[in-house]
Amino acid sequence: MKISILGSGKGSNAKYLLSEFKNGKLSNVQDISLFSDSENSQFLKLASEFGCYGKHVPTPTKGSVIKGTYETDWINSLSKLQPDLIILAGFMRIVGINFINHFDGNIINLHPSLLPHFKGLNAIENAFKMNVARTGCTVHWVDNTIDGGDIIAQASIQVFKNESLESLTSRIHSQEHFILSQVVCALADTHVLKKT
Ligand code: GAR
Repeated sequence: MKISILGSGKGSNAKYLLSEFKNGKLSNVQDISLFSDSENSQFLKLASEFGCYGKHVPTPTKGSVIKGTYETDWINSLSKLQPDLIILAGFMRIVGINFINHFDGNIINLHPSLLPHFKGLNAIENAFKMNVARTGCTVHWVDNTIDGGDIIAQASIQVFKNESLESLTSRIHSQEHFILSQVVCALADTHVLKKT
């Protein structure tokens, strides 16, 4: 399985997956490449750190949905590597329907809440402010809704009494690293790719 990861920021999830890959723990994964809308992101720096393909794809600063010629550029950039699976890990843009269809829906997204709760931006903070007893993270298939595709895996954690937002964020990130790598292993090992 060839994987392309799309990210915009820190890249801790991509880093975890690349480390697993380098250590031979993703045995049925042949290649991991990185794509970002942000040229100077920590995420994209991982390409040189891990010696993998990395590309910045210019994207407008305004508007989160990737449309028009920008969408075509994204499709063309990824098509060159023919990924079997695309992972949105901290990708702060919304992929369009042409992009989804082009890759036959073989796209998964990582989200830091127990979907369908707390869709969209600032999910951890929003759950924290609502004083929820439990929150967590989700890996789901991408469809043309925002954070609404079929759920593949979730990790649920208790919010401790008097816990800080920083502590909760850090514990959710640890769970994200774990479930994302579990899902990638399962999809690569079983060759189950298509959503339907
Ligand atoms: C992760 O918590 C991911 O779930 C979230 O961004 C973070 C990226 O972390 N994604 C979203 O909120 C998407 N709506 P990372 O860059 O360290 O992997």
